[in-house]
Amino acid sequence: MTDIYPLLPRVANTAYVTTAKYREWYQRSLDDPEGFWGEQAKQYISWFEPWDKVLSGGFDRLDVRWFQGGKLNAAYNCLDRHLQKRAQQPAIIWEGDNPNESAILTYKELYDRVGRLANVLKRYGIKKGDRVCIYLPMIPEAVIAMLACTRIGAIHSVVFAGFSADSLKNRILDAGCTLVITANEGIRGNKAIPLKENVDKALRDCPDVSTVIVVKRTETLVPWEHKRDMWYHNLIAEAQVECSAEIMDAEDPLFILYTSGSTGKPKGILHGTGGYLVYAAMTHKLVFDYHNREIFWCTADVGWITGHTYSVYGPLVNGATIVLFEGVPHYPTAARYWEVIDKHKVNIFYTAPTAIRALRREGDEWVKRTSRKSLRILGTVGEPINPEAWEWYYHIVGEDRCPVVDTWWQTETGGIMITPLPGATPLKPGAASWPFFGVEAKIVNDEGAPVPEGEMGNLVITQPWPGMMQTVYNDHERFVKTYFETFPGQYLTGDQASRDAEGYFWIAGRSDDVIKVSGHRIGTEEVESALVSHAMVSEAAVVSRPDPVKGQNIYAFVTLKTDAKPSDSLKSELVQVVRDVIGPIAAPGYIQWAEELPKTRSGKIMRRLLRKIANNEVKDMGDLSTLANPVVVEDLIKKRNKSEVE
Ligand code: WT7
Repeated sequence: MTDIYPLLPRVANTAYVTTAKYREWYQRSLDDPEGFWGEQAKQYISWFEPWDKVLSGGFDRLDVRWFQGGKLNAAYNCLDRHLQKRAQQPAIIWEGDNPNESAILTYKELYDRVGRLANVLKRYGIKKGDRVCIYLPMIPEAVIAMLACTRIGAIHSVVFAGFSADSLKNRILDAGCTLVITANEGIRGNKAIPLKENVDKALRDCPDVSTVIVVKRTETLVPWEHKRDMWYHNLIAEAQVECSAEIMDAEDPLFILYTSGSTGKPKGILHGTGGYLVYAAMTHKLVFDYHNREIFWCTADVGWITGHTYSVYGPLVNGATIVLFEGVPHYPTAARYWEVIDKHKVNIFYTAPTAIRALRREGDEWVKRTSRKSLRILGTVGEPINPEAWEWYYHIVGEDRCPVVDTWWQTETGGIMITPLPGATPLKPGAASWPFFGVEAKIVNDEGAPVPEGEMGNLVITQPWPGMMQTVYNDHERFVKTYFETFPGQYLTGDQASRDAEGYFWIAGRSDDVIKVSGHRIGTEEVESALVSHAMVSEAAVVSRPDPVKGQNIYAFVTLKTDAKPSDSLKSELVQVVRDVIGPIAAPGYIQWAEELPKTRSGKIMRRLLRKIANNEVKDMGDLSTLANPVVVEDLIKKRNKSEVE
């Protein structure tokens, strides 16, 4: 039996949605999606011209179109239309890495800065449909850059500032970006991140990038390429504010965001304008029960989809005040998040289970020395949250006053898909709960047949929803293959889940070769090819291993070339290779030397066995009959200890 937490009257009395309304609207959203989404689109978005058709096409032919013929602009919806009522209202409350540094940008100020940068982009030749790469830390300029792109119809591709020069290069090349916006340095946890240096390295192989706009975040000098590099502040100072918003079709692309999958290099997930914005705005308002003038803080970096949808587009479309935090949860102390909540009177706080677990481990005192009385709603996202962490969040951080919304979604889905709604959903710790309006979720076995209640299976979505990705940039075939080949006509999420008697969804984790390390999505194949790029490595196989704080950690089995000698320093080198090729977030926590890898007779690596060895579940190894070389497994089990990387 799991605990159920009933609705909290303090929230339920003013919430937009009640349990009865949820049921009624949910049914309507499935019975009459066009009627339902047409109403939402009118309510949440200002359109220059109405659409001809709310929804056309479907998953059978993969020709889905939302709000076809409708005209709008994302930046206009985030800024211009708020000026009459909200010009002086803070749009962004920026909290620096250093607790003594913060700044406020009103809607009017944000509007002005976006207009100036948009004019700068135009001056450097950027026009509708061009791709712009944004590689910035969590500073207001990151939001300004995104909105400046969308204002003129350029497609932004934000690359998380923790990715390496190599990853940045691949993303710039794949998207065909011609301009990069970066900073001389970033700062996180009082450590400098050499962003401009990474851009310089990346651009050695990107001949199409002719302009780099550099925000001066610190006083550190950086090498300068005179024809190519420009200081942001100089360009902005000379630019005009007025810049009319480009009139975009609802189906025009808004942004590309790269994410990892089971195989191959990261995919450029392409999102459109109209459907995405409607979905972002509606989910932001209802899932977080956002009320006028509340302070909303999503801790996700703008380099991830959570940052796109809930640090930028959703809240700004709704005229919200957002907190943008440059730093990390542990700096200067483990009280930082709670102090920021008090400092800026945050009402709604949205973060990841990994942060909750890490802070819980530091002890309750850090939380209890702050007030947090402004808090009303708590949210989590990115990976399953274990009940212990959930309870701590609910009781200690929220003092039993705040519903916890455990929101399940993906880069591909654009917005939250399965979640409790404050005031409508009694809470079960660890359950993502009920599908959002318009989301038809099912659990099927590997043959595609529905599984009985309570049983685990593949989570699929059977009907289109407006936030859904349009395609994989430059590779529509991959889009079709990855998401629609396994169960034709249904969107494959890649997650395993079950549904209980009350219709609550419980997400167990990925069913493919994607690892969620601290909520970051990492493809095993990417890590393997990074390891193999080292001159001494002949083969590598990467699996996940449960981790009390990170959720999962990366466990790599590495076979060296015959002339190479295993050593701890070689292990460190291998970790460094992964950091260089992908970025620090993909650094393996464990490396185990393997004289050979367990393979089937046809030469396929048996990851199932490796996972068991990594997790020390070696009592029952399951069916070994297809294994070509049984002694290999015994040997790996024997040598399992000492695999942790210092
Ligand atoms: C994967 C998507 C979109 C949010 C940030 C992550 C896992 C996400 C939950 C949750 C259990 C979750 C899934 C999903 N995931 N939220 N509430 N409970 N698992 O986006 O990087 O595209 O990762 O994150 O495995 O497939 P992403």
